[in-house]
Amino acid sequence: MAILSKSNTSLELYRNRSKFKWVVLVVSIIISLVSIYYTNMLVSQLKNREEKSISLYANTLEYLANQPSNSGINFVFEEIIVSNKSIPVIVTDEIGKPLDSRNIPRADRAQTVKERNSILKEELEIMESQHEPLLVTLRSGDGSITGYQFIYFRNSSLLAQLKYYPVVQLSIIGIFGMIAFLIFNYSKVAEQNRVWVGMAKETAHQLGTPISSLMAWVEYLKTDENLTDKEIIVELEKDVERLNMITSRFSNIGSEPLLENANVYDVINETVLYLKRRLSSKVIFTISCFPNNELEANLNIPLFEWVIENLCKNAVDAMVGDGEINIKILKANEGHVVVDISDTGKGIPKSMFQKIFQPGYSTKKRGWGLGLTLVKRIIDIYHKGKIYVKHSDSKGTTFRISLRS
Ligand SMILES: Nc1ncnc2c1ncn2[C@@H]1O[C@H](COP(=O)(O)OP(=O)(O)OP(=O)(O)O)[C@@H](O)[C@H]1O
Ligand SMILES: [Mg+2]
Repeated sequence: MAILSKSNTSLELYRNRSKFKWVVLVVSIIISLVSIYYTNMLVSQLKNREEKSISLYANTLEYLANQPSNSGINFVFEEIIVSNKSIPVIVTDEIGKPLDSRNIPRADRAQTVKERNSILKEELEIMESQHEPLLVTLRSGDGSITGYQFIYFRNSSLLAQLKYYPVVQLSIIGIFGMIAFLIFNYSKVAEQNRVWVGMAKETAHQLGTPISSLMAWVEYLKTDENLTDKEIIVELEKDVERLNMITSRFSNIGSEPLLENANVYDVINETVLYLKRRLSSKVIFTISCFPNNELEANLNIPLFEWVIENLCKNAVDAMVGDGEINIKILKANEGHVVVDISDTGKGIPKSMFQKIFQPGYSTKKRGWGLGLTLVKRIIDIYHKGKIYVKHSDSKGTTFRISLRS
């Protein structure tokens, strides 16, 4: 029961972690949408205000133009026309010839009249595409119409900037978030590395003392004439050898492991022979090597054996102790050797192809979900190779390991 609850907690933890990612993503999308909506609201309010003030501007121009004299209305001019320092405006005659302009610095900097006119023409086009021009009716003293003027205008630069504000804001937040995520991920990986290396070193160190003592006892027993059953010594020596192998695996994980050119078939065959003795005879192993049994790769033998052992154990679990495990060693493109390990087990859903390598992911009652994490670590980091699920369906699974030769 205790074991069952352990397994549930590790799966629970795994599920919570991926749920948390979704929550963060959904909250960020909501914040982005609210921010865009709010800025759009501001933009449309500001646009309304600008349109109103330009309409006031047009009315003022009309009023001023229709006054017999300018006396007493200077303040209107000052208050409305001169105080417009943000909205670009061009006043034209009936046929669209510019008469006056405001807040178009480009045109004010023009050196010649011709240059100024061409700039104003360009501006008129932009303005026309943004807003309908306003009509100013000019009248003579008796009220009869003497002509028309048009007021073209466009959004102030403040409004234009505000329109792009959410994009700029969200990009900055996005970049910042990504950098924070990378730093966080990097420090998490660095921390995991320290834990792996530390635990492995400590385990190898702790195992060292009892193993030396056991070896001494075996030597002592060999010389003991009272011991009649010599088979005990043989079995003891095998166990000591196994313990030595475990220690060497841990000490290799805990330090910079050395790689050597080794015959891949021989290493795998050795491990399979060892496993066969401990597994049910209902599991049938086949190993093939193409083009010949001489393929070599850069291996750390104790760690690579550990990989094969873990993959085969998972395969046996998936087949519930009855089925075939087929190992194929192939020469891939220049400088690479691949090892395909196939079983006839229950398979892995496609959506789990990546997740099975994460620590804590296990579907077994007694599983810690560490086997494949260790396997991936040994292949990726120590052998600079790759491991992935090449294929899986309800009839079985194939894991592919790619190694450097
Ligand atoms: N050959 C396979 N066929 C089907 N499922 C597999 C196979 N290999 C791995 N899995 C799935 O991937 C999960 C994770 O495997 P992993 O070896 O990391 O952990 P585990 O075997 O559950 O526990 P342990 O830490 O004891 O190895 C397994 O629980 C199983 O669901
Ligand atoms: Mg496992």
